[in-house]
Amino acid sequence: MYLRDDAQLFFGGDYNPEQWDEAVWKEDDELMRQARVNLATVGVFSWALLEPEEGRYDFAWLDAHLDRLHANRVAVDLATPTASPPPWFTLAHPDALPVGPDGTRLVHGSRDTYCLAAPAYRKAAVRIAGELAERYGKHPAVAMWHVHNEYATLCWCDHTAAAFREWLQERHGSLDALNDAWGTAFWSQRYGAWEQVLPPRATQWHKNPGQHLDFRRFWSDTVIAAYREQRDAIRAHSDRPVTTNLMLPGYQNLDLWAMGREVDLVAIDHYPDAPGFGAAADTAFAADRARSFAGGRPWLLMEQGTSTVYSSDQVLGKEPGEILRHTIGHIARGSEGALFFQWRQSRAGAETWHSAMVPHAGADSRIFREIQEVGEAVARLGEIKGSIVIADVAVLHDSDAWWAMEVDGLPSKELDYHGSLRRAHRALWEAGITVDFAHPENDLSRYRLVVAPALFLLSDAGAENLRDYVEGGGTLLVQHYSGVVDARLHARLGGYPALPLREALGIRVEEHRPLRRDEVIVLSDGTRATVWSESLRTEGETLVTYTHGMLAGKPAITRHRFGAGEGWYLSTRLDDSGYTALITRLAGSSGTPGLESVIRGNWRFLLNHGTEPIVLPEPGPDLLTGTTVGELPAGGCAVLKQGRTL
Ligand code: GLA
Repeated sequence: MYLRDDAQLFFGGDYNPEQWDEAVWKEDDELMRQARVNLATVGVFSWALLEPEEGRYDFAWLDAHLDRLHANRVAVDLATPTASPPPWFTLAHPDALPVGPDGTRLVHGSRDTYCLAAPAYRKAAVRIAGELAERYGKHPAVAMWHVHNEYATLCWCDHTAAAFREWLQERHGSLDALNDAWGTAFWSQRYGAWEQVLPPRATQWHKNPGQHLDFRRFWSDTVIAAYREQRDAIRAHSDRPVTTNLMLPGYQNLDLWAMGREVDLVAIDHYPDAPGFGAAADTAFAADRARSFAGGRPWLLMEQGTSTVYSSDQVLGKEPGEILRHTIGHIARGSEGALFFQWRQSRAGAETWHSAMVPHAGADSRIFREIQEVGEAVARLGEIKGSIVIADVAVLHDSDAWWAMEVDGLPSKELDYHGSLRRAHRALWEAGITVDFAHPENDLSRYRLVVAPALFLLSDAGAENLRDYVEGGGTLLVQHYSGVVDARLHARLGGYPALPLREALGIRVEEHRPLRRDEVIVLSDGTRATVWSESLRTEGETLVTYTHGMLAGKPAITRHRFGAGEGWYLSTRLDDSGYTALITRLAGSSGTPGLESVIRGNWRFLLNHGTEPIVLPEPGPDLLTGTTVGELPAGGCAVLKQGRTL
């Protein structure tokens, strides 16, 4: 990846000089030097300035900023501005405004107000991307391209309907096949002509589940097609890497495995949704997902909040030292640096109160001083660039399974795909285990343990793959309500989960029995459980049984030896301590509580999230300080050289 000094990690953030004047730009140059900024993301929301009227471009201001940044030794991650079409665009093309499921057409005045299926929007987006690439494709400041920003907007308009029908024809081949896939024999939904098929707009009651899932898949393909158009327009003029910043970890508007294959470098934005220890766990979760979507290769933290974390409806402050810990947490798990949103805190506009590297208070502030320290720290880590993280435990993630669990009519509203994934990851994180995410159809043989926390939908190929994984010697933990529908959302018949997986688990689930809201049951080993229970039979070993009602004495947790491996099944939702105990029993624990330890390449990253100093088992020279570290203070980080090479 291009950077004037290739032995540096990236450090910097979104830079919006168009919000300021020359005196501030001068100060920016000086402060960027002080903070050791070497990469600035420029132009993300600048369409209205770059193209003030349709087809009339003004690049002079951007020329000046790119030249200035280059002179200041700051490389540029140049964005296409297509996430925010200007007002003239929406007035000229009102049909390209997004429409909600209830038919409400949105208006400009915010951002992300476009329909990705509208031809006028797609044309205008590719045009401005191409113009930028032609002008700046070989500009010495440009290190990489940043297409769009957090592809997020969904739309249910007539353009979307037409594109959806085309996509469905391609996928299903015939109306009969579509009717069959969507189960339209139920509720008189049979389609007799393609024109009758709609996106899943507001309906009187439950929507057709197949329609929902196919719409999600279609939208993901639409996003990827829109990205590709811009990427290819850029590649026609530039050899610099092209990416887009993915919104992680909680948004799922596209198949991130598929997008990971399209970008030259996976880039994510991460804003923790809890303070303290929760933010540290969330950082690891986001970073492990990013690395996995990058196929294990290094990736880039494109945005993080500087000094704040979100928590419900509040924006809370990070504690001193937390900016560094989050930054090191991401780099430990494969990021090629750390960028922030944004360089300078806006003084006007919708995100005036979003934190920044240079806060409203200016450079004479705790936040900027910490940013300087973090910039120093990142600058010292250059030698780890390009090195990789190896994990031997995986959590299964599949977008289809996530989207499938959004459908109406599931037996419990407390089933939570994303929450289940996070919980599994967190239990492993707390046990000190480095985790990959993996797709259920991918080769899993390099993992000693695979956890499937919420695979409601499991394809035939996925079920076979999991069976083969166990047969080949792997240990698989499958959790409740998994493998119960196929890739078309049709229920598995003859007992759950899908047959090949049942063989590996040695079970047959006969009945789902969701628990009443707030109901807590106690299992035979004293563990508490909530949300869910199942009536199942096992030909393997029953480790723990239910003790209540008609399930009393029946298996709750089972283990089955199959081939050279073991299939474990957990049929309920254990409380936190019970779940952690089960995960630790399966994965082992390499951990000192509160100490995060990750190996990347030849270095061991250590982060003390606790409130007490931790004596390290093996003292070593720390890349961050250049000294030998034997004890890590509360909140401290260290990066120690390892004896072995990966
Ligand atoms: C996102 C966007 C940024 C900014 C930040 C902060 O990640 O990409 O433009 O809005 O959130 O809210």
